[in-house]
Amino acid sequence: MSRSFKLGVLAAAVMAAAPMAQAYEAGDFIGRAGAVTVDPDSSSSDLNSNALGTIPGAEVSVDSNTQLGLTLTYMVTDQIAVGVLGATPFKHDIEGDGTVLGGTGKLAETKHLPPTVTLQFFPMPSSSKFQPYAGVGVNYTNFFEEKTTQTLTDTYAALAPGVTRTDIELDDSFGLAAEIGMDYMITENVGLNAAIWWADIDTEATINAYTAGGTKADTSTVDVDIDPWVYMVGVSYKF
Ligand code: NI
Repeated sequence: MSRSFKLGVLAAAVMAAAPMAQAYEAGDFIGRAGAVTVDPDSSSSDLNSNALGTIPGAEVSVDSNTQLGLTLTYMVTDQIAVGVLGATPFKHDIEGDGTVLGGTGKLAETKHLPPTVTLQFFPMPSSSKFQPYAGVGVNYTNFFEEKTTQTLTDTYAALAPGVTRTDIELDDSFGLAAEIGMDYMITENVGLNAAIWWADIDTEATINAYTAGGTKADTSTVDVDIDPWVYMVGVSYKF
């Protein structure tokens, strides 16, 4: 063995044996930043139109999106904490689905912010570098900048002749959320984080259709269960 290799092994052994200062304890804040993906497990009702009635097979689905995620944990005790998930606004395409709308492509898009607050439990002793956690709480999702596409307007016009413009609005959602995650502290303050949430996000989309003169010709609604899995991988910093 070379001398530098032996020294390296010795240094690693000393580092491994060195007692770590308290990793997580009451009063600590742990901030995390990373890539966060919202991956909807969506399903929808059939579109229900005032003018046309319920259209069996006229469904929608929602695609996934990745943004900058930010989470913050406040340790209330050495093992119980409050966690908050925030992110830059997600942007999702809403696509046609079901026997009638499947294959039509992008019908609308929306942005949303899904702030989530959870009560977290950290089972490991506060001296552990490895800190897995589980949490339950609530999610509030605010949809904004909803837009329809020409495809939706054209599809609508095929069913209801005379329609030349459409718009869409999504109701905000309030529901349960659950998470599991882990931090692995590399130094006293810096670590790696991975976390997964599930959130119950349900919304009603209201689509208005207008004729050339701007008169409202029809209003439709569709209930959408978005119920996404949310994945984040990032860096932790203990304050
Ligand atoms: Ni749901």
